[in-house]
Amino acid sequence: MFFYMPVHVYSEPYCITRHADALARLGKRALIVTGASSAKRNGSLQDTVQALEEKGVTWCLFDQVEENPSTDTVMKARDFGLSEQADFVIGIGGGSPMDAAKAIALMMQHPAEDASYMEDKEKDSGRLPLALIPTTCGTGSEVTAVSVLTRKATSHKSSIPHRIFADLAFLDGRYLQMASPSILANTTMDTFAHLVESYINTASTLYVRAIIDQGLSLWRKNKDIVLRQRQATEEDFFTMLNASMCGGMAIAHTGTTVPHGLSYALTLKANMPHGKACGYFMKGYLDEASKEDRNHILSLAGFKDTDDFLAYYRATCGMETIATDILESSIQDVLKTPAKLAAVPYTMNESVLRRIVF
Ligand SMILES: [Fe+2]
Repeated sequence: MFFYMPVHVYSEPYCITRHADALARLGKRALIVTGASSAKRNGSLQDTVQALEEKGVTWCLFDQVEENPSTDTVMKARDFGLSEQADFVIGIGGGSPMDAAKAIALMMQHPAEDASYMEDKEKDSGRLPLALIPTTCGTGSEVTAVSVLTRKATSHKSSIPHRIFADLAFLDGRYLQMASPSILANTTMDTFAHLVESYINTASTLYVRAIIDQGLSLWRKNKDIVLRQRQATEEDFFTMLNASMCGGMAIAHTGTTVPHGLSYALTLKANMPHGKACGYFMKGYLDEASKEDRNHILSLAGFKDTDDFLAYYRATCGMETIATDILESSIQDVLKTPAKLAAVPYTMNESVLRRIVF
């Protein structure tokens, strides 16, 4: 068995401030990578800047990472970071800024290369020092080596082949307090998808399943918050972040499988948020699994059966009808990714995919 998770993680209130020394050791000038606004609103950018300035580290800001970030954006940020002579990268936000920050740190290390470098798995994955600060609770990207990017020319979204772990991750639940109920619903559904797809996975191991079990137990504690039956406390936000990190640590070892593979077309062609798009296929994925695996997951997550899960999904993420042609393209996407099919421990072919999708 194999287990490798090299990221130093700090998970506590004010952890960026408390561990500013660790952040400052990464370099002399930081390129901070964020989306347009949330890092400014939730206090994470301010804490980061304050910690850097207290340690005499200068910084510059690239705040143009879009949802489903493109390789074009990565190159634009890379050129900006080089022109600013930044020597390390800090990604703050949900999966989009964190995944972009990984690729930016890679490309800054290889300043003479063009965007094709990101796609070449034979090339060196060396990168600038990198810290990640999640401000949503679904991606787990702070502890994975994966950078999912969109290629605008082909409208295709998938991970680049380089494996890029961060040096540091700072988890502070206070930054989730600004997240809207729909963001919480979508991102926690992404966490659930990571945990399920990593458990029902040919690469799942004893170590990974120990983390998944812990993640599902944590995830269950937040269902009533996502259902808007209870207000979240600061402790609850940490529980959500820790569940998300468990999901991240799990998929860092197993990868995701069919629901994620099917989801990308819904996100790119129907504008459906990532977690909601993965959750769309989750009942079908669980229904096809072995009874033992299905019952284990459902009982830890606090669902009676997959219909109970579906009711939760509809209550939290909503349920909309997706056009048949988009669902067909989801199936074609997965059929073109043999690794996703091979990761499924039960029979997986086009007819099983059709049962999951329709
Ligand atoms: Fe995901």
